[in-house]
Parts: sequence; structure tokens; C-alpha cells
Amino acid sequence: MPNIKFYKNKEVPLELHRVEIVKQLSLLPVDERLKKMKEAGFNTFQLHNGDIFMDMLTDSGVNAMSNHQLSAMMQPDDAYAGSETFYKMQDKLAEIFGISHCLPAHQGRACENILATRFVKPGNCVVMNYHFTTAKAHITRLGGHVEELVKDEGLETKSTLPFKGDIDLDKLKKCIEEETPKNIAFMRIESGTNLIGGQPVSLDNIRKATKIARDKGILTVLDASLLQDNLFFNKTREKECKDMTIREITRAIADNFDIIYFSARKFGFARGGAILVRDEKLFHSMEDLVPMFEGFLTYGGMSIREMEAMTVGFDESMEMDVISQGPQFIKYCVDELVDYGVPMVTPAGGLGAHINAMEFVKHIPQTEYPAGALVCALYICGGIRGMERGTLSEEREPDGSERFASMELVRLAMPRRVFTLSQVEYVTDRVKWLFDHREMIGGLKFTHEPKTLRFFTGKLMPTSDWPDKLAAAFRKDFGKDC
Ligand code: F0G
Repeated sequence: MPNIKFYKNKEVPLELHRVEIVKQLSLLPVDERLKKMKEAGFNTFQLHNGDIFMDMLTDSGVNAMSNHQLSAMMQPDDAYAGSETFYKMQDKLAEIFGISHCLPAHQGRACENILATRFVKPGNCVVMNYHFTTAKAHITRLGGHVEELVKDEGLETKSTLPFKGDIDLDKLKKCIEEETPKNIAFMRIESGTNLIGGQPVSLDNIRKATKIARDKGILTVLDASLLQDNLFFNKTREKECKDMTIREITRAIADNFDIIYFSARKFGFARGGAILVRDEKLFHSMEDLVPMFEGFLTYGGMSIREMEAMTVGFDESMEMDVISQGPQFIKYCVDELVDYGVPMVTPAGGLGAHINAMEFVKHIPQTEYPAGALVCALYICGGIRGMERGTLSEEREPDGSERFASMELVRLAMPRRVFTLSQVEYVTDRVKWLFDHREMIGGLKFTHEPKTLRFFTGKLMPTSDWPDKLAAAFRKDFGKDC
């Protein structure tokens, strides 16, 4: 990573790429945005992309591709069976992770479906640092349950802990004893940990936690979807990794796992997924699930062109100049907002900047979805689309009562290589305005609540006319066109 310093001694993240293809953006006036939010049932997943100025919903499938990726897409080997593109991708993954058996799947949750279908039986437990929504949904769908073993401090929004995604090893030992190794389908480590703020896991903790599991005969699984951000933090925050190359750190992490899966909508800057299986017998025992759910074993539901692009993307993910961009922009955004007094998840992680909604709108009870309300308010006042990561993203308990999330976050995802620094400045400016008007934000309630993954398709309404009043205040300060 070139250490480019500014003459005026300012710490400014610098783009290490230049823009060659652009997409025009437009900003609807505030009254239009209010109308669109109402039409979307106060659910940012239901907004149309054309009505959004800054789409910070996710980093999934929306990372910018490089010139090398685009040119690779022009040379695919299209075939139902035996595509050379697949073998190229498999070889690249073997080179990086040291595992040669690869099951392709159309995206990360498809990998999770295959893993859960193969390993989870009713009553089984899956131990993990922290869950991801789709991973958990597949496990519980099959009658399993998850045990989250992240350290208590990992769940504190304000912290200086460099690796908040680390597993608490005492909790792990206790859990294995209570559940018994036989009942544990597998251990899943997510690097980095999405729902607690893109927080990384240390190599040291990975080694210790997987050793405990393996000594008890428990299968170890790495969710590497957010690995590239994690690698940046290993390199910059973990002493042992300081002098290692990104490839060496990757291999040191990978060596601890029987299975590695990922969403290539994140890892690899494209759209797809794959499961890498170390043991040949185990690999063959999972093989039949790919043609059943995904497609033939050499494309797994993916476009061959995307597979070409991701193969190049895997190599790019091993470059510090590439993987440092996201975390540096996120840190800039978090630092700006912290300076203003906005409650943010600290230290800044990967994936995006995370606002602590529980604190930002502390007058809204969890029963009225504080993070869900804040994310809607942010669209109304800035055309910015974030994502609720709190109680709304949870599923109800079997008895119908709410399962309150341990954190109520609004995630402002930073898709890789997409936004410029002035766009990040715009976002922090609108968040600051909203923070100064936070008392105006009210709660939400469901008008249509699906049973599974309700945050995707549910519809809500405000508990009062707060969105109209908020839009009026914004109009007063910025004019009706802004
Ligand atoms: N694992 C992690 C850690 C993820 O962040 C995601 C997706 C998945 C698995 C599932 O992958 O979307 O390709 O099916 N996260 C996206 C997000 C959806 O917005 O955070 P997928």
C-alpha cells in the first residue's frame, strides 16, 4: 500500500483507481422522496433504485468491476458441462486457499442451503461467532438452532477492541460441553462479522477456536464472504500479520478450516458463490446437492461470464491497494460522524459505516423498530438508502413474540470502488442534519408481516405523521428542490 502523505498533514483516504465508466445519478426532491417512501411501505428494500441518490443498502453484487474483470468476461468458455472457465476458477481458488475441491453455487445463501441441508438435523446446534440472517434461516428451517459465541465486548457498540468478531473461547468450551460434540452440526466462523458492524476476527482467535472444535471432532466452516475486509484488519491490527503478505494471511486462515464458502457478490467483486471442501469424501457426499438446487457442477447457477470476472476478482482481493480502499473510506465516514457526536459502531469495521440507532433515536422503543425508522428518515432527508440491521431483520420467536436484536444498527454500506470522497461527505452532512433533528423521528409498525425474512418484503407504516413533519423541516432548511 503506497503511503501517500498530504502536504497539509490531513488524513484523507485516496482513491487508487480512476473512473472510466460512469453511471449518472439523480436526486429526487424531498417531497418526491417522501412519496416514494410511503409507496415502499417504509421498507428501503422496496424502493426502486432510480429513486435513490446514494445506494448504501449493501455491498453485495454492486461493487465496481475493474478493466481486467470486464475484459475477462469477454473470454468465457460456455458449456453446460466441463466449462474451462470453471476449472480456471477452481484452480485460482486452490492457489489462494489451498483447497482443490470446489462446489459452485449461485450466491452465498445457496452455499448455506447446501451446507445446512447436508449437515443440520432437527435439534442440532451450529456454533458461530455471530449469525448472518440467511445462514441462520437455513439452519432453523431444518430444525436446528444457532449459538452465538462472540465475546461480550463484541456486542458493545463503542469499543476499542480491534477484533470484535472473535469467539469467546470459554463460552465455546462451555457450549460444546452442554450441547455435546455429537449434536453440533458444525462450527461457523464469519470473517468479518456482518451484523455486528463488519467487525473482523483475528487469525489468533481463528486458530484457537478451530483447534478446540477440531479436537472434539467438530467440522469447521469459514464464511469468507467479507474476508477481504478482514484481511485488511489482520494486516493492519494484528502484530503477527504485519509482515505477512495478504496471500500468506489468507492461507494461514484457510488452513484451519474443513470447509470454506463465500458469496462472490462480495468476495471477488462479481456475482456468485462457492463452497470449498478439503476432504474428498466429504466433497463427494455434498456433490449431488449442486445439480439439484443450483445447476451442473461446473457452473452452479452462475453465469460463466461472472465466473471469469470473479476469478480475476479473487486475485485483486489479494492486493492491499485494492482491499484497503473500503475500510479507509468507512473509517473516514465513521470518524467524521463520531466527531460530530453521532453514535457510531467503533472501531470502524469493514462493509460499511454503522450508526447505533438505539442511541441515535433512543426515544423510539425496540417494539417500534428504531433502526427501521432511522433508515427511512435518512432516505427522506438525503435520498440515501441504508439498511436496517436490528429487530426488523430478526424473526419472531415460535410463540409470536418479538425477538429483540442485541444491536439496532443502520448500515451505510460502502460498495467497493464505487463512491468518491465528496459523495461520502454528502452522506455525513445529511446524517449530521438528521442527528440535529432526531427528536422528530418516530416509530414504525407492520401492516404486512411475512413469517420468514420479513425485512425483505414486509410493509410498514409510521406510528404518527412524523415523516411529513420531518420532510417539512428539511424543506425549510434546504428548499423544496434539494
Ligand atoms: N454471509 C455473509 C457474511 C453475508 O454478508 C452474506 C450476504 C451472505 C453470507 C449471503 O450471501 O447475499 O450472496 O446470498 N450479505 C448481503 C448483505 C446480503 O447485504 O450484507 P448472498
